[in-house]
Amino acid sequence: MEQKLLLIFQQSELDAVKMYQVLTEKAAGEDEKQLLRGLGAVEGRHAAVLRGITGVSDLKPTDKMAKPIGLLREKLGKKATYTLLALGEHGAYYLYQPFARKYDVLRQVAQDERDHGKTLLRLVGALRRSLPIPVLGN
Ligand SMILES: [Fe+2]
Ligand SMILES: [Fe+2]
Repeated sequence: MEQKLLLIFQQSELDAVKMYQVLTEKAAGEDEKQLLRGLGAVEGRHAAVLRGITGVSDLKPTDKMAKPIGLLREKLGKKATYTLLALGEHGAYYLYQPFARKYDVLRQVAQDERDHGKTLLRLVGALRRSLPIPVLGN
């Protein structure tokens, strides 16, 4: 059961890498691209952390997240899409909690997801008010 769930997380992290790649390609400005690229890089590190726990190394990124989120981005625009993503990132923080208690490394992963949620909401705020795009980790 635990291994099965951890593999779902591992796959989701890989899929998130691809999703942030798509959002990076679609982003307008260089600052926004850099932020989204940075978020994708963190998801890649998360996948590696999970790989270290599950021992499974043959998973590949899929379009499962990139496709619907790319579509959403086209239909609803980026502010709505980033807001929904922020909810997903916050949700991931809570989904990781049972495992964060057992695996120290996953506590940091969970924390990162919460930071991603906050960062995406700050990005939306900046886009709304034409303020500078936030930098990852601030
Ligand atoms: Fe992640
Ligand atoms: Fe994340």
